[in-house]
Amino acid sequence: MEDGLRLNKYIAQAGVCSRRKADELIAAGKVKVNGSVMDQLGYRVQPGDRVEAAGRVLGGGEKKVYYMLNKPVGYVTTLSDEFDRPTVMELMADVEERVFPVGRLDYGTSGLLLFTNDGELAYQLTHPSRQIDKVYRARLNEPLTEEKLKQLRRGVDIGGFVTSPAQVEVLKQNERGALVEIIIHEGKNRQVRKMFDAVGCRVLELERVALGGLTLGRLKPGHYRKLSREELAMLRGRES
Ligand code: URA
Repeated sequence: MEDGLRLNKYIAQAGVCSRRKADELIAAGKVKVNGSVMDQLGYRVQPGDRVEAAGRVLGGGEKKVYYMLNKPVGYVTTLSDEFDRPTVMELMADVEERVFPVGRLDYGTSGLLLFTNDGELAYQLTHPSRQIDKVYRARLNEPLTEEKLKQLRRGVDIGGFVTSPAQVEVLKQNERGALVEIIIHEGKNRQVRKMFDAVGCRVLELERVALGGLTLGRLKPGHYRKLSREELAMLRGRES
């Protein structure tokens, strides 16, 4: 895969505007990288690049802040939704800084979602090479057989992509269903649901309970809190 985040995505993630609008800004010569106008739509932002868009220096200036939200089911992880569904941004409305979500949870998924205005850390955390542990609990419509458990652990084809080996444990189950913990590193769209689909099980509920060593703890659904210094150090990949 190519290095760097595509310029329009970088601008959108900094909360300036949508990706499509960012392309318009780029084409109109209103974006600068390291002091020069950048009009190549395909440019990929490199670590250390200084990006200016619509008169704002992105990633600089504002104090960096880091939050975790316990996302409830029924919210989309976008800055705005074309179907007018509630967005996670509404739950962060009290935060003064222009934060944006790091990665994504589906409309129907609950759990730990990070927010920051630190584009560099967000990029690092979502880059596949970082191998961040993402821990999910899935409630299934049927028990998980040994054979299916093995398939999930080995990796399954989710439609043109074979998932890497995953850690999968059955926490409890009976003849009517199962509660399963699954730890993955990748972040393909609807990956966990597709993985269970691939072995013929349906996910009834899905919650992300931990990310990169951070856990939800007692944070209530719909609530957010600042990360502690130790948690931030953990995310950055250092011992606290
Ligand atoms: N996998 C899914 O299927 N959905 C999510 O929201 C996250 C991971």
